Order: sequence, then C-alpha cells, then structure tokens
Amino acid sequence: MTERILVAVAWPYANGPLHLGHVAGCYLSADIFARYHRLKGSRVLMVSGSDTHGTPITIRADQEGITPAEVVERYHALFLESWEKLGISFDLFTHTNTANHESITHDIFSTLLEKDYIYTDNMLLAHCPQCVRFLPDRYVEGVCPHCANARARGDQCDACGRTLDPRDLLEPRCALSGDTPEFRESEHFFLRLSAFQEPLLEWVCQQSHWRPNVLNFTRRFLSDGLRDRAISRDLDWGVSIPLEGYESKKIYVWFEAVIGYLSAAVEWAQLQDAPESWQDFWKDPESRAYYFIGKDNIPFHSIIWPAMIMAYGNGLNLPYDVPANEFLSLENRKFSTSENWAVWVPDYLERYDPDPLRYLLSVNMPESADSDFSWGEFVRRNNEELVATYGNLVNRVLTFAYRNFEGRIPTPGELDADSQAMLDSARAAMDEAGASLDACRFKAAISRIFALAQEANRYLDAQAPWRSIRQGDEGRQRAATSLWVTIGVINCLKTMLHPYMPFSSQRLHEFLGQDGRVDDGGWDFDAAINAVAGGRDMRPPSPLYAKLEPEVVEQEVARLGAGTG
Ligand code: MF3
Ligand code: ZN
Repeated sequence: MTERILVAVAWPYANGPLHLGHVAGCYLSADIFARYHRLKGSRVLMVSGSDTHGTPITIRADQEGITPAEVVERYHALFLESWEKLGISFDLFTHTNTANHESITHDIFSTLLEKDYIYTDNMLLAHCPQCVRFLPDRYVEGVCPHCANARARGDQCDACGRTLDPRDLLEPRCALSGDTPEFRESEHFFLRLSAFQEPLLEWVCQQSHWRPNVLNFTRRFLSDGLRDRAISRDLDWGVSIPLEGYESKKIYVWFEAVIGYLSAAVEWAQLQDAPESWQDFWKDPESRAYYFIGKDNIPFHSIIWPAMIMAYGNGLNLPYDVPANEFLSLENRKFSTSENWAVWVPDYLERYDPDPLRYLLSVNMPESADSDFSWGEFVRRNNEELVATYGNLVNRVLTFAYRNFEGRIPTPGELDADSQAMLDSARAAMDEAGASLDACRFKAAISRIFALAQEANRYLDAQAPWRSIRQGDEGRQRAATSLWVTIGVINCLKTMLHPYMPFSSQRLHEFLGQDGRVDDGGWDFDAAINAVAGGRDMRPPSPLYAKLEPEVVEQEVARLGAGTG
C-alpha cells in the first residue's frame, strides 16, 4: 500500500532572514525525508509557513518603526525565495495571517471551550510601572527556578529548556526598563493541560521509535506535572478571540501556531481543488505525521499540540514522530543575530551553490548531539569528499565513456566476479540507506551512500578501463563492461543522493541521457540499472561540483560579526 506521509515543519518567525542554524535545525532534514518518500512513491504532504504573530514580530516592528504586517510581508517573501534557491520542497509554505488559519483556530478554540478544556480565570500578569503596560512573557527576565540560570525569560529557560510562567522567575525584571514588574489581575483563557497528564503519559510510553533526546525530554516534562496554561494575551497583534467582550486580547501565538499544521493542510487541499483531501493525511490512521523541529520546540510538539489534538478529537492523527534536531553552532560559537554571528541563507546563496551546503549540513547534522559549522570544514569536505570522492568519480567515468563510446552508454559483456560484487553492493547500499532514511537517520544514510562511492572508486581503479581499452577487442569489451557497471552504480548514487543534493542529481540525470525528473525513477535498484542500458545516448558531461580555494575560509570568517560593536 502507498505510504502516506505528512511532513510538518516548524514555522519560522517572520522577523528576520534565515541562517544556517535554522536550515540544520529542521528544514534540511524535513526536505530530505520528503524527497526520499516521494522517490519511494509515498504520497507526501510537506507544509509549514511563516509564524507571523507573537513578540518576535512586534519587537522587530517597534525597532524599525513599521507595522507588524510590513515586517511579516518582507520576511515571508524572503523565506519563499530561500526555499526555492535552497531546494526546500514544500507543497505549501503559507503563513498564520490568513482567514483560513483564523477560522480553523476559532473552530478549535470554540470546540475546546465548549468541552470545558478551555476556561477563563483571572490571572496575575507582569505590569511594568515604568513602561505602563502589561509585559509579554518574553519581556520579563529573571533567574530560572529550576537551574538558576540568571537570564531566563518569562516563557522559557534556554539553559535547561523548561517552559516557564513569568511568575516562576526569581528576581523578575522588565527587559525594556529593568524595573521590577508588579503582578496585576487580568482575565484570560486557560488550556486545561492538567487533564491530559495521564493520556499523554500513556501515549508517550508507546513511542519507543522516537529519538532518545526527544523521548527523555518529554518524559521529564511530564514527570514535572502538567499545569494549565494561559492561552490568551493582552495584545493588539494576533488571532482574535471568537467571543464578544475580548477585543483587547488575542490568542497566544503558540496556541495558534501549532494549529498551522492543520490549517496549512486544509489550505493546500483547497488549492488542489480537492477540499477534502487534507483528511487523507490527517484522519486516515494509516497516514503518519512527522514533525521536524529544533530542540527548543520539543514540548510544544510532543505535549501541548498532542493534548490539543486529544481535546479536539474529530479523528485527527497524533504525531507519529518528532525527529527534533539539536543545535548547530558557528565556528564554535552560538549563532547570534544581535552580534551578527551568523551565515545568512540569502548571503550564502549569492556566493555559492546550494548542494555543497546541503552536503555539509547533512554529514554534520546535529541529529543526536550538537554540531558545529565552520568554513574550514566546509571547504575541506567540499574539496575532499564532494569533489574528490563523488564528483571526480562521476566526471572521469562519464567523460571517458562519452569520448570513447560515441556519446553512448557502453554495452557490457559478461560480468566478472568483481563486477557482480560491485552491483550487489549497490543494491545492498540502497536497501540499507533506505532503512536508515525510513528511521530518520540521515547521517547514517549519507555515510552509507558515500561508502558506496568509495567502493566504486576502488572498483574502477582495479578495473582500469583506460588501460584495457587499448588491449584489443577483448580489452575494449572489458572496458565497456566495467564502465557500464560503474555507470549503473553512479545512477544508484544519483538516486540516493537526490534527497540530499537535488540540483546536482538532476544535472547528472540529464548527463546520463534521462528525461524527466529524478523523482520519477523510484528508489529502486533494478529501475536504476535498467535506466542505463548499453547503447543509450548520453549528454555531454561537465563537473558536478567546483573546488573551493582555501582563501574562502579567511574571507568568510572575516565577515562574521561584522557591522557590530
Ligand atoms: N516560530 C517558532 C520558533 O521559531 C516555531 C513555531 S513552530 C509551530 O521557535 F509549530 F508552532 F508553528
Ligand atoms: Zn532553567
């Protein structure tokens, strides 16, 4: 049966451009997974969008003296351009400022209110006497009651990862004025999260396929005990509350942002002219939903959103997996927007191709532990692995075959034992890399694929077709055979690397004389071999990747942190 896969990817705040930390955090892994499943013939729906509400947006608007809507418009357009150029293949990348999203949020809010999973209560909110306003959670800073981090924010402690309420903070202060806020009463809506302690515990216990970091974090979060959470705020910018008398309040950004996964699927279905088709991904119990997120978002996806789905009912699927990545650092320092310690995606793409970046962030993905991006490693692995191991293999085989066999794929004779072993190994690599990808083990899969490329290099060196081709008719036949075998392996590599490096795989596909898109060929060893039958026309090849000069490292490192203090 055709697998059905919802690839749900974290919604980036539309308050600034993306940097490599975002790409490594969730966008690349989600894209690899979606492309792999499309190749396999699964039905895939990959959605996300701009998170357009919340203080990150309004802070930015205040700083620039423009409206939140203007901030959102600018960065949403930039995101779309980055996805296109980086090859992040969303089926829909929408935003949370749509009528569709509002109406679905209202439906969920009203349903939960009716079922008494949402209730009103008075709450004490931080009010700054100096600023004369209620403070958003993020604007309250203080000491974390769990780990004593002195720079915890009212919504979350970045040191220990716990979500917080501003009242939990010790020695609270206003992030704007530094004054000590007072806590004043205001009426708000609460999500009855405490009602889901047991059902969530039971559900989480069944998720043994989750990554250990996600499972452990979620277990610990649950064992701390779930408290009801306020899901409205005193704000102008956000999704309105569907009740009269609450015009000065808005729905809290996190409550509605996670609903985006559902509203985006509904919007996608409408755009397909098949308005019910979102249900194939959301209501069919056979469909699996994978949530690709960074580790700072785990509780919202492994606890709060599942609780909201349980509360809402209506047959919606819970997450199947939450393959959260850890953090990427840059030259061994934390990414920092304010210190401009970042490699911005639009800047990167102005100077380099997308595939070398996708390659490095794949082999170095913070999949089960934090990892680091450095320009030195980028240049080294581009030159030593992408160019030397894979690119050169492809280039020397295709060029040699094209020149010596009239631009056609050479026709093989009988296979010797080594040639047969080479093909068997390619078949095994495809099975093994596929199994790793099914399990969201992206690093294991790419290292298996590159091991096959190494093996193909050794096979080719041992066979030395450039020598045998000069040894009479029989030698020419042997050369044709070993070239054909290597081209078969290369076609398998092209397929397997397509999820990781879609642009260069598509070019290689064309050099090999194939039409259409790599996706259409399937994740299938026999199909990959049949597609390169002897005698088929090739197209003139050229190198897939370019060597980078060592000076790149110095130049790029010098840009980091530029333009600040
Ligand atoms: N905008 C949030 C962030 O950047 C992520 C939101 S994910 C969602 O941390 F699911 F809530 F949309
Ligand atoms: Zn803490």
